[in-house]
Amino acid sequence: MKLKGRVAIITGASSGVGYATARLFAREGATVVAAARRRELLEHLIAEIAYEGHQGLSIPADVTDSGQVQHLVEQTIALLGRIDILINCAGGVMKISPVEQFSDAEWRAILDTNLTGVFYATRAVVPYMKRQHSGTIVNLGSRVGKMGIANISPFSAAKFALAGFSQSLAQELRPYNIFVTNVVAGMINADLAPLNPDESLRRRLLTTEDVAQALLWVCTLPPSLRVDELPIMPRHVDL
Ligand SMILES: NC(=O)c1ccc[n+]([C@@H]2O[C@H](COP(=O)([O-])OP(=O)(O)OC[C@H]3O[C@@H](n4cnc5c(N)ncnc54)[C@H](OP(=O)(O)O)[C@@H]3O)[C@@H](O)[C@H]2O)c1
Repeated sequence: MKLKGRVAIITGASSGVGYATARLFAREGATVVAAARRRELLEHLIAEIAYEGHQGLSIPADVTDSGQVQHLVEQTIALLGRIDILINCAGGVMKISPVEQFSDAEWRAILDTNLTGVFYATRAVVPYMKRQHSGTIVNLGSRVGKMGIANISPFSAAKFALAGFSQSLAQELRPYNIFVTNVVAGMINADLAPLNPDESLRRRLLTTEDVAQALLWVCTLPPSLRVDELPIMPRHVDL
């Protein structure tokens, strides 16, 4: 078991990549703290983890609410005493549209979920990781956070900013033995609404399990190796 004894907070754990990562990390011996807004999906996930004989608990939280994120982290410390890994997986495109059709509220919601939520969670865990003198923070970046594409400009802007935030943090936190990786993923066969690609394209995309394996790898690097950024793409599609 590659993560035995480690405590991992995973945001966005109710579906998609976060869900697959929670399952995999629990199988690898981590105690998983699963966070997202949909309580019943988190409870289902924790029941599955327990059924397989592994450890996990759910703490519902909206990452756009700094109070809820702080509570998630403080509850984790109160119950488990440490935080070794933070996977910032909560996020999504939310809307595909020309720029003039995004409202103020939509712009803010996309930036809050994909960028500000990562800031809230990182800010909350870092004091504990500094105290431990160890930690791994992994952010779910995107290929469109490296190369903008039409009609998802708020999401693209958020993921570009996330890449910068990750790079800055990687340098800032390295002296404390805390390592930050931005995983720059191509298209994943997860909940792709509102894009809704057809079934034949879906089959050629990254799977959520592929991405979970990449996240496991960056959380179990040899002590001499660091990975500030990890691009991962579907083998046969440039999306
Ligand atoms: N799908 C892709 O092609 C792709 C490509 C590159 C990067 N990514 C990134 O990968 C990450 C995971 O996405 P996915 O593809 O697995 O999509 P997904 O299945 O839609 O998962 C998104 C997760 O984020 C959670 N979430 C959304 N808003 C939240 C909020 N305000 N507070 C807490 N949790 C919130 C959702 O849970 P609740 O609704 O229960 O809150 C859900 O668990 C995202 O950051 C996404 O941008 C995806």
